[in-house]
Amino acid sequence: MARRVTVLGTGYLGTTHAACMAELGFDVLGVDVDAARIAALADGQLPFYEPGLEASLERGVRSGRLRFTTSFQEAADFGDVHFCCVGTPQRSGSSGADLSQLDGCIEALAPLLSRPCLIVGKSTVPAGTAARLAELLARLAPAGTDAELAWNPEFLREGHAVTDTLRPERIVVGVRSARAEAILREVYAEPLAAGVPFVVTDFATAELVKVAANAFLATKISFINAMAEVCEAVGADVASLAESLSYDHRIGGAGMRPGLGFGGGCLPKDIRAFGTWAAELGAGEAVSFLAEMDTINTRRRTRMVELASELAGGSLEGRNVGILGLAFKPDSDDIRDSPALDVAMGMHRLGARVTAFDPAAMDRARQAHPELEYASSALSAATDADVLLVLTEWPEFRQVDPEVIGKAVARRNIADGRHLLDPALWRAAGWTYRALGRPAEAAF
Ligand code: UGA
Repeated sequence: MARRVTVLGTGYLGTTHAACMAELGFDVLGVDVDAARIAALADGQLPFYEPGLEASLERGVRSGRLRFTTSFQEAADFGDVHFCCVGTPQRSGSSGADLSQLDGCIEALAPLLSRPCLIVGKSTVPAGTAARLAELLARLAPAGTDAELAWNPEFLREGHAVTDTLRPERIVVGVRSARAEAILREVYAEPLAAGVPFVVTDFATAELVKVAANAFLATKISFINAMAEVCEAVGADVASLAESLSYDHRIGGAGMRPGLGFGGGCLPKDIRAFGTWAAELGAGEAVSFLAEMDTINTRRRTRMVELASELAGGSLEGRNVGILGLAFKPDSDDIRDSPALDVAMGMHRLGARVTAFDPAAMDRARQAHPELEYASSALSAATDADVLLVLTEWPEFRQVDPEVIGKAVARRNIADGRHLLDPALWRAAGWTYRALGRPAEAAF
């Protein structure tokens, strides 16, 4: 029975996976080259915000089932199964994926593997990567064919990382032997017993499932945002349109909320990387539509700045703008490719005095953009604002009282980038309420 698991790379994915594996009863060793991060994790401290994860990390560390190290030798000696969870970010100056951390991880681990084990890649990669890494492993590992590779993409969402890992909607494994499949069935015995679908396939398909899923999600969001643009042209309301579409079970409403569009560390970089490697493999035409999805998505950000400018009377120069939300989505402190931050910076560049508040992402935002002003609450971000913008749909912003905050602002103008608020309520309190894809006035 494979009881000893290592998790290589303790970023978002790796830390979550390590803590959840410990929850499932495995002895887990988390490995990273970043000594400061490893020391913090060993102390039960989570270096980012994710609901429920710190408690899970603490439980694992306290029980002794979850430990951390910077030593690949220790990992090689310890693990029956090695999960490789390092990042594959966008290559700087290119739309392709940077696989250097992944290659580095296999190159460091493989020569130390002298006993039977399974290396399981979880990172998001171009198709063909697993086959290439399997060759590398075969060349470098003293254990020979006893050190085998499998591919098991991860579908967790930030803000829901723990539940998505413990109870995923599906588990997909790309394997080349019955032995690899059997080990992964053992590792995931608990979710499988709970009825989670298990798809066994080849390397290339397993790699592709992940990017195809993210490409579909991005397309769904850009589709409804494209409809928002058409709505604006014809005076229709994208909120009612989206609701009406959602009742068709073939379309569904999940993941099709109109607004400011997608951001974060995954969807934008994954559709760009997909386009790049598909073109390299001769299938570029098949996914050329993804470039258009990307364009529709970034146009949301420009359009939001224009809407704020309209509300400010035609120019943002010298205007006070209050911003509610900086994270790329609620329940996260992640600001990577955050639409909210992009809009904030766009307005700052046009001469606005931008004051922002976010329940979790303040420290990261302040570090990345010290040129913006930061407030300690929604109310103080709104103080003296000529325009107020909601850019991340934190549930607490829905509770904001338009009367109370109305007394703090200079002018009652609000642009709701996430369709979070009830327009009738805000208009009744004397606000000019605007949202992308929705009429400027109530129909009646
Ligand atoms: C995404 C996928 O949903 C996960 O399945 C995948 O595992 C993950 O990427 C990854 O590749 O690691 P995540 O980036 O956490 O997860 O966020 P999502 O919940 O998909 O949201 C992405 C962006 O789209 C956010 O900026 C969100 O505000 C926006 N969005 C989402 C919309 O604008 N409308 C929607 O209806 C849904």
